[in-house]
Amino acid sequence: MRDIKTIGVLTSGGDAPGMNAAIRAVTRSAIYMGWKVYGIYRGWEGLINDDIREFTTESVSSTIQRGGTILKTARSDEFRTYEGRQKAYANLTKHGIDALVVIGGNGSLAGAQEFAKEFDVPCVGLPGTIDNDLYGTDSTIGYDTALNTIVECVDKIRDTATSHNRVFFIEVMGRDAGFLAQNSAIAAGAEAAIIPEDKTDIDQLEEFIRRGTRKSKNSSIVLVSESQKDGGAMHYAERMRLEHPEFDVRVTILGHLQRGGTPTAFDRILASRLGVAAVEALNEGQRNVMVGIKNDQIVYVPFPRAIKMDKPIDRELINVLSILSI
Ligand code: F6P
Repeated sequence: MRDIKTIGVLTSGGDAPGMNAAIRAVTRSAIYMGWKVYGIYRGWEGLINDDIREFTTESVSSTIQRGGTILKTARSDEFRTYEGRQKAYANLTKHGIDALVVIGGNGSLAGAQEFAKEFDVPCVGLPGTIDNDLYGTDSTIGYDTALNTIVECVDKIRDTATSHNRVFFIEVMGRDAGFLAQNSAIAAGAEAAIIPEDKTDIDQLEEFIRRGTRKSKNSSIVLVSESQKDGGAMHYAERMRLEHPEFDVRVTILGHLQRGGTPTAFDRILASRLGVAAVEALNEGQRNVMVGIKNDQIVYVPFPRAIKMDKPIDRELINVLSILSI
């Protein structure tokens, strides 16, 4: 087992609120351990292009409350190539970096897994994505903040929907996961959520019409998970206009505003705990694992499980929404 004295930390993929709290926790706990820390800018791109600076405790001062990532981020095509990863490894050795903490989503952790395997570099991942789609952790860093942001927006849209007796389809992010749509629908008291995990024989739009056109309700809000497959909120609004022209339909796509903003206390605490745990994991000799929190306990999830396993949405949540939206 390699004796770790120097680590690098990077954020990769889509930014998520709370990433700064994670960078801060990794930096400070590594320094506390007596290690040297390098901040790697723009994710894997920064490792390839040697955009690397030594971090002190002051480097992360006054960052816990800030959204985005002070290290910046990128989705690197070059890192997908072996040549790109070779360049990255050369820079890692140049700075004497013994191990990496990678904060990001599925793609970022898949990159870490590949890199660790090819070059025998100990890597520990932290789940940083608003999508909450990593297996083995109850919540990912940024998910709670994004959820709260969405709920705030839906509350506002509700005012205008009610005033005009309209049906609103509100599209939210999540890539292939419906956590943001399902839980924001419950929290905002929406009439329905259309999510990828609930693809059954029953048409989710028809189901909503059947249940939701209840007598006293003259406005409705439907949360729609973005989807490459069926076109998201626009698609459902179009169908509604064609199949049920009696409704006055509008669409709102919340887009990237969901990724910004001050992290909630929940995300700050989650990121702080995970950051400290990542450094402890490396110190214990763990490698190629994502650190998560399950039932309030720190857990180590091997990369292949965290990345590949589907994280199911609890049917109970689907049931709760359908009961409460009668
Ligand atoms: O993975 C986070 C996420 O915000 C997804 O919800 C969304 O599909 C994607 O990133 C958008 O990516 P980009 O910012 O590169 O357009």
